[in-house]
Amino acid sequence: MPNPEPNNTSAHGRPGDPCVFVIFGATGDLTKRLLMPSLYNLLANKLLPDKFAIVGVSNVQMSSEDFRKQLGEEIKQFATTKVSDDLWKFFDQRISYMAGDFKDPATYTKLKSALETADKAHGTPGNYLFYTAVSPSFFGEIVKQLAGAGLTKETDGHWRRVIIEKPFGHDLESANALNREIGACIHENQTFRIDHYLGKETVQNIMAFRFGNGFFEPLWNNSYIDHVQITDAETVGVEQRGTFYEATGALRDMVPNHIMALVSLVAMEPPNSFESEPVRDEKTKVLRAIRPLKPEDVPRWAVRGQYGPGTLEGKPVPGYRAEPQVNPKSGTETYVALKLAIDNWRWAGVPIYLRTGKRMAKRVTEIAIKFKAPPALLFRQTGVKHLEQNELVLHIQPDEGISLSFSAKIPGPVVKLGGVDMNFKYADYFGSAPSTGYETLLLDCMLGDPALFQRADTVDAGWRVVDPILDAWKQTPAADFPNYAAGSAGPSAADELLKRDGRKWRNI
Ligand code: BG6
Repeated sequence: MPNPEPNNTSAHGRPGDPCVFVIFGATGDLTKRLLMPSLYNLLANKLLPDKFAIVGVSNVQMSSEDFRKQLGEEIKQFATTKVSDDLWKFFDQRISYMAGDFKDPATYTKLKSALETADKAHGTPGNYLFYTAVSPSFFGEIVKQLAGAGLTKETDGHWRRVIIEKPFGHDLESANALNREIGACIHENQTFRIDHYLGKETVQNIMAFRFGNGFFEPLWNNSYIDHVQITDAETVGVEQRGTFYEATGALRDMVPNHIMALVSLVAMEPPNSFESEPVRDEKTKVLRAIRPLKPEDVPRWAVRGQYGPGTLEGKPVPGYRAEPQVNPKSGTETYVALKLAIDNWRWAGVPIYLRTGKRMAKRVTEIAIKFKAPPALLFRQTGVKHLEQNELVLHIQPDEGISLSFSAKIPGPVVKLGGVDMNFKYADYFGSAPSTGYETLLLDCMLGDPALFQRADTVDAGWRVVDPILDAWKQTPAADFPNYAAGSAGPSAADELLKRDGRKWRNI
């Protein structure tokens, strides 16, 4: 067993700057499920500044005291570790709440005085971090109003930052419009577009694996790699998010953001340094090299699916059209598979296949690198007719790790080869630190490090990939929905996508 470096949740290894954390949408799901549990974990790891306060804003009428009580109850349910009363006191002394309409300038006047009060009470020096845990229709509005109230101006050495949640736009045009709207009020270095996939340790490890080791990077190109498969399968359905999902679908929900984050990390060139801008430059550059699909190519390169009723973990589950707030004749996709071509020197001729869907057989997010098979010449005189492709799999979740499969001789007098695996599991080496995946992101924001956040041009590049598909699908509604059973591996058309190229998806 190695002796690992201390497992610090931050690349910086120090607490965030003193600040007030303002949550718009403070009574919503994100606050209780992710934000408060993450802040709690940061506190438990001594990564929150002592000079810290939280101001919750939402349209629900409630006193600060009731808000604190509510958060105190919810944290017990949603924290990833056992909550200590002593630690919770830290928050209890630092949380306040105000009700307000996000569109009303009076809300921001009230907020300004709430922030001044917090600064005085907690010694926070005018640094404010605004988190938009609200419906996307408010993102631009909130930034505009904050700027209008003078709350985003960085003077006297303090900082003002805004975290924008996803979805960032619903297509290329709206994403760019939102970028312009926000860009007219605050600087790019104050804008933190969050993608929680970039907070996952295993996602961050992709760069460490590629660029911190000598053995794979020389093979990481079209001379040795046959193709790449990215799978992001979920067992959950749309839960209580029918209204959101009906207007969104799997393509918008997962691909321009989370999946593109994985594509960029796996396909980017080595950056000049690990500073935020060189890293974000390379990520964006490779996304820009993805060949945009022509309308006539969409049917052959993109597959959509919608789950029907089925069985999951032994239990019957309803089809998408029977979920709450879903149109019984819905044409919204809950599954998408794509073939992408990256037109650059490294990846020319290496297809990247990706698939993501709800209500699939198993929850698994992984990236499989399939290497080209060696020539079988050496084994001419033996029974071995065909050599398997070596496969490197980056297991992102839930069983975090890296595995490598290759061929070995099966013991015995006859030359026969069998597939074997080498498996590394994170938990075996580094233990498993229970986290929500948001901790690093929140901390980085408090420290002003945007490396793990999406830049405006990265968002643009992601939408450029999916926009032609959205357009084509809008023109031709799917005629075969539902086309996969809940609990299955997805629609058969997705198998065809690879079969046409003589390839096969990994088993889920
Ligand atoms: C969210 C999507 O951004 O990511 C959800 O809106 C999806 O539909 C979720 O379920 C997946 O995140 P994770 O961390 O569970 O893979």
